[in-house]
Amino acid sequence: MTSSTVLEIDGIYKRYGEQNALEAISLDVARGEFLTLLGPSGSGKSTLLAVLAGFTAPDRGCVYLNGADITHFSPERRRFGVVPQGYGLFPHLTAYENIAFPLRVRRTPRTRIDGRVQEVMELLQIEGLGNRLPMHLSGGQQQRVALARAFSFEPDLLLLDEPMSALDASLRRDLQAELVRLHRQVGTTFIHVTHDQQEALALSDRIVVLNRGRAEQIGSPRTIYDHPASRFVASFLGKNNLLKAIALVGPDGRIQFHWHGHRIAARPGAVPPTAGPCILAVRPENITLDAVRSSASHSDDRIRGKVISRTFLGSSTDIVVAVGDDTLSVTLPATAASPTAAGEDVWLAFDSERCWCLPNGDASPSQFAAISSELAA
Ligand SMILES: Nc1ncnc2c1ncn2[C@@H]1O[C@H](COP(=O)(O)OP(=O)(O)OP(=O)(O)O)[C@@H](O)[C@H]1O
Ligand SMILES: [Mg+2]
Repeated sequence: MTSSTVLEIDGIYKRYGEQNALEAISLDVARGEFLTLLGPSGSGKSTLLAVLAGFTAPDRGCVYLNGADITHFSPERRRFGVVPQGYGLFPHLTAYENIAFPLRVRRTPRTRIDGRVQEVMELLQIEGLGNRLPMHLSGGQQQRVALARAFSFEPDLLLLDEPMSALDASLRRDLQAELVRLHRQVGTTFIHVTHDQQEALALSDRIVVLNRGRAEQIGSPRTIYDHPASRFVASFLGKNNLLKAIALVGPDGRIQFHWHGHRIAARPGAVPPTAGPCILAVRPENITLDAVRSSASHSDDRIRGKVISRTFLGSSTDIVVAVGDDTLSVTLPATAASPTAAGEDVWLAFDSERCWCLPNGDASPSQFAAISSELAA
């Protein structure tokens, strides 16, 4: 724990029957941080948020707020604002009464309540909707009321469970920008849950990637995107080609990756701890492509393949290329001249600066030995 730590999560376990909902979750949350819990459905995101909010008791482990153990505090004692999955607005209360509710529970003086409700309604730009029942509000308006309710008592920390999952894509983008604005404006610590990787990358200071109740990686969006710690993280965040390659020490003493007879120079940092089979992770946007007919020359760092398909996606084009019995995806900007059509032979080149290596590939040891002796010769 450092002086900037507001919340310390220490070795949390939670089991439901045979199901491990959370396993050994430990992390420190910094004051004012925008932290996102990201993972597929059932990975434990809501369970972790419920443990932090005090709705669920962990089987093991502790939660500390500013150094004090709050593991067994009631939700009210924690002073956390919560936006539950599906908003959880009280259907029989107006927007105003929903927002005032946490203040009334905390016995805020009547004279203070009205001023504060008006203030957060202004902050969330929902002035004028106070008299409406939730059923007479749009999804986006309900989301704002839920946020206003969570903000109303000036919480130390805000817990948001998939606050935008019910909204369409363009409204989502608007509200994402809004959430960033709010975070800057109020400076409160946000812990936000989503299964949308784009949203996690766009909003967060740090991301916790959850998989089957375990935190597979914790880091900045850039780190997690560029340097995934596991196969799961590499393919859950954006697209990635995961290639069974072999890492070897080349004649110059530096590590090289070998894949389908081609050598790819490894940059420092992308190097596996030991030579041997590995998984080379290459994102589709880090591969360039050149028609064989338009450039005759061959070099070691280019790989020959055959285009299987191309799909126009508006701002980009996806191209699937076969290399031997592997296939890989290449993404080209729609503006790029891409002279390739299905069935055509192409040269592929990997941006070696952006190739990343994951341990424990399952290339066969005999293949490794054969390439090693070939290089030594
Ligand atoms: N009250 C409960 N009783 C039994 N099992 C539960 C309970 N709550 C959660 N689980 C199980 O724990 C696991 C994690 O659930 P959780 O709701 O935390 O997932 P999630 O990541 O929030 O998923 P989603 O994206 O679908 O909301 C799941 O396998 C779920 O079935
Ligand atoms: Mg959930």
